[in-house]
Amino acid sequence: MHVVVVGSGIAGLTAAIRASALHDVTLVTKSALADGATAWAQGGIAVALGADDSAALHEHDTHLAAAGSADARAVDVLCTDGPARVRDLLALGVPFDRSTDPATLDRYGDDLARGREAAHARWRVLHADGDATGAAVERTLVAALHRRHVTILERTCLTDLVVRDGQVVGIDVVDLLGEPRRLDADAVLIASGGAGHLYRETTNPLVATGDGTAAAWRAGAVVADLEFVQFHPTRLAVPDGGLVSEAVRGEGAVLRDATGHRFMTDVHPDAELAPRDVVARGIAAAVRAQDGRPVLLDATGLDPAFLIGRFPGLTRATRAAGLDWTREGVPVAPAAHYAMGGIATDTEGRTSLPGLLAVGEAACTGVHGANRLASNSLLEGLVFAVRAADALGGPRPGRLRLRGDATLVPRVVPAVVASVDDRTGGPTHLGRTAPVRQTLQSVMTDRVGLLRDATGLAGARAALAGLSAPAPTTVRDAEDRALLDLARLTALAAEARTESRGAHARTDHPDTDPSAPATTAWVTATPAPA
Ligand code: SIN
Repeated sequence: MHVVVVGSGIAGLTAAIRASALHDVTLVTKSALADGATAWAQGGIAVALGADDSAALHEHDTHLAAAGSADARAVDVLCTDGPARVRDLLALGVPFDRSTDPATLDRYGDDLARGREAAHARWRVLHADGDATGAAVERTLVAALHRRHVTILERTCLTDLVVRDGQVVGIDVVDLLGEPRRLDADAVLIASGGAGHLYRETTNPLVATGDGTAAAWRAGAVVADLEFVQFHPTRLAVPDGGLVSEAVRGEGAVLRDATGHRFMTDVHPDAELAPRDVVARGIAAAVRAQDGRPVLLDATGLDPAFLIGRFPGLTRATRAAGLDWTREGVPVAPAAHYAMGGIATDTEGRTSLPGLLAVGEAACTGVHGANRLASNSLLEGLVFAVRAADALGGPRPGRLRLRGDATLVPRVVPAVVASVDDRTGGPTHLGRTAPVRQTLQSVMTDRVGLLRDATGLAGARAALAGLSAPAPTTVRDAEDRALLDLARLTALAAEARTESRGAHARTDHPDTDPSAPATTAWVTATPAPA
């Protein structure tokens, strides 16, 4: 069968490599192969490989961080399959860092160096080249891909899925010159990542515009949990500043306000290593209390040689910003980082549409619940990509069984109709007066960000409804249309969830409502025509 894989991060590359053993594979990616979020991953890959650890412990931590909303089956698969998949990476040659401490072998049964990140009860985060883990993984997988018979189409952007008789039979794409093209497929596997560019400040690369999730939704696939957007606590708060890995706090760096007070000790017993959503909100509160000035990440308690050697990329980045983090705190603030929601799938990547699979950040298996545990995303990409590739060509799945507690939300209909009208050429379709991306990023950041309330969300819904989706004749326009679709859906999902849970924090509903569904799933009222 001919399989089209969309995306070239850890999930897309892994799926393409695995599927190429049995199938004819075409891999489509919007930029160059290595330009996605995987190559930007710093902290590493969480896996229960050590003698002191177990899949059960990793599962426990994943559920706790997820605010009790994660899907038990997906978490079990992630943590149980994880060690074998990471051994695959070792066999492929990913140069994970090794420890020179003789105690490592006794403690863990191997010499792999391990980092610690928030909400992990064990040191289980493998890393490579210090803080350039993702780049090392991506490089290794790209090299492996080149050894396979896979057709690679770079600089080719997915615009829409082609659906015939209820089955996905291909994709429409546009290249950098605006040239459209249709690719036929027996199966399409979306691994196109998240949509950090829904927000003004993000740790994501420019390509993270949710193209795959939006296309799947427009084609009629169920999407789920879009209200759960993870904000990473520490982006370097300088112009164009990037991620400052949680692993820095794992090694002992602390957060201080303008008076030098270590404020996270007032917020949570685990202070800087509390779950990511808690730390992000703790920082936001401290920033508000000091009139918007960023807080400081203070790594001066660490040995300077260790700090520089363990985090060489971050040392370069802070120096480039004129900062010496061996001697002073560096300014940090939360930024959009990861989409827990996405295209609803089972643990084999199957979606609600026959012929369509999804894995990685674009998918929503429920494995992250309402808040992803740090460094589980690279593992997710690996584990579920292999399972999805192995499910290709198997018996055609029946309807996707949504998670037991999923609620299929029909109240999305009015907004869906608005978006479908835009897409199919309604009266607002040709209006190109507003700079769509900047406007939607401001709306999302100000009203659908770290803290939400009913007034802001209703305002966001109205503001987003007033924007026009461009026709996808260029890559930029295709991206803006995807962002607008996802912005509308995310705002609606956040409005519908009248409680706080994990990364979704409502100031007007600060408590978790135990009777609220752990997951909400959304579907278009009118699937797109082929
Ligand atoms: C980090 O290095 O802090 C990011 C890790 C992650 O998002 O899983």
